[in-house]
Amino acid sequence: MPDETITQQVSERYARAVTTGERMCCPTGYNFDDLRSFVPEEVLRVSYGCGTPAGLATVRPGETVLDIGSGGGIDCFEACRRVGPSGRVIGVDMTDEMLAMARRNAPIVAKNLGYPAPNVEFRKGHAENLPVEDGSMDLIISNCVINLAPDKAKVFREMYRAIRPGGRFTISDIVSDQPVPNYLIHDTEKWGDCLSGALPVWEYLGGLVQAGFLGVHQMKFTPWSAIDGIHFLSLTLTGYKLSETAAPNGVRFASLLGPFSRAVDELGQAYQRGQSTQVSARTAQLLTTPPFERLFLLSDQPIVVATTDERLISILPAQAPCVWKGHFAIFTGPFAEVEDDGHHVYRRGVPLEICSKTLDVLESGPYSRHFAIINRASEAVEGEAVSCAPSGSCC
Ligand SMILES: C[S@@+](CC[C@H](N)C(=O)[O-])C[C@H]1O[C@@H](n2cnc3c(N)ncnc32)[C@H](O)[C@@H]1O
Repeated sequence: MPDETITQQVSERYARAVTTGERMCCPTGYNFDDLRSFVPEEVLRVSYGCGTPAGLATVRPGETVLDIGSGGGIDCFEACRRVGPSGRVIGVDMTDEMLAMARRNAPIVAKNLGYPAPNVEFRKGHAENLPVEDGSMDLIISNCVINLAPDKAKVFREMYRAIRPGGRFTISDIVSDQPVPNYLIHDTEKWGDCLSGALPVWEYLGGLVQAGFLGVHQMKFTPWSAIDGIHFLSLTLTGYKLSETAAPNGVRFASLLGPFSRAVDELGQAYQRGQSTQVSARTAQLLTTPPFERLFLLSDQPIVVATTDERLISILPAQAPCVWKGHFAIFTGPFAEVEDDGHHVYRRGVPLEICSKTLDVLESGPYSRHFAIINRASEAVEGEAVSCAPSGSCC
């Protein structure tokens, strides 16, 4: 199917949904009772997102925020509340019917928020060609839209162009655990359902880094559905557009605290837990952003961290046999590659089969926010327990 056909059919599908109010995609997490206090019901009825990119504590007062694929306006209106009357929100969508609904509700939301005038405008446009100036946005949000765009690399490049140096994105989208096969890609209905256009996790995260973003990492993960063994999940991701000329910030050395025993960042710099690594000014800038600042000890001189230092985090698997139950771990943290204390090497976005012992480790506090876990077993399995090698490198 040519790209224009996909885009036109997607737009027709969402135009129809405005009138029918049919239930479509996906797993969201907004507190509708809270939103109902200032967002009209007709907007909530056509909420087709798969996350809460405007609801997480990412939107700051006074900011200029762009929402790609704003639909009926739900995320824009939540962003309006969070940026406050001095901030500004721009929603972009390609579907006239969605734009009309968002536009007619903007003055109502402003009034409900007690603002003198709406601090949001809705522009017609495509994610692949955003109608905003270069470097004009503090933050880009998007909720379940980029999977619908046939040329995601172009969308990611446009995002990078639109964000100011030092700005960031927080986007929720549907991704898959493996490439979506042709028979699904050419199913028009499933494009509209946010399934056919899903990219494998490694390709989605890699595409954002290729566009220039750094520190790309998961903020939230929700399993969505599985078709013919292909798992679809909703990920909310954040990443940064660093300034080209990084001002010195006093950081010259970084010591990885854990829980990873080893990590390689997106610029190719490797770190070993507890060892001091000299970093460039650009890396220093990156490591002071969340969640890096919690994973490293940053300093202006080398710091030797003793192996007994309580700040180091190391989580060993239990001394027990492994049981394989169909779980796969997908690393979605802010590194290209990491290793754990069970010697598993996780390449970002690539599913790795894990046993129940490793599952316990990865579901523990320090690891859990960096992984999406899926279970590929089509029915409950009770695998036999197997013993690990004495080296500890079993599963
Ligand atoms: C799944 S809905 C999500 C709407 C909204 N973000 C929400 O959470 O309710 C997808 C929206 O993105 C718009 N859209 C899809 N592809 C687009 C593209 N390439 N450029 C601009 N808008 C697009 C559709 O018109 C539709 O309003």
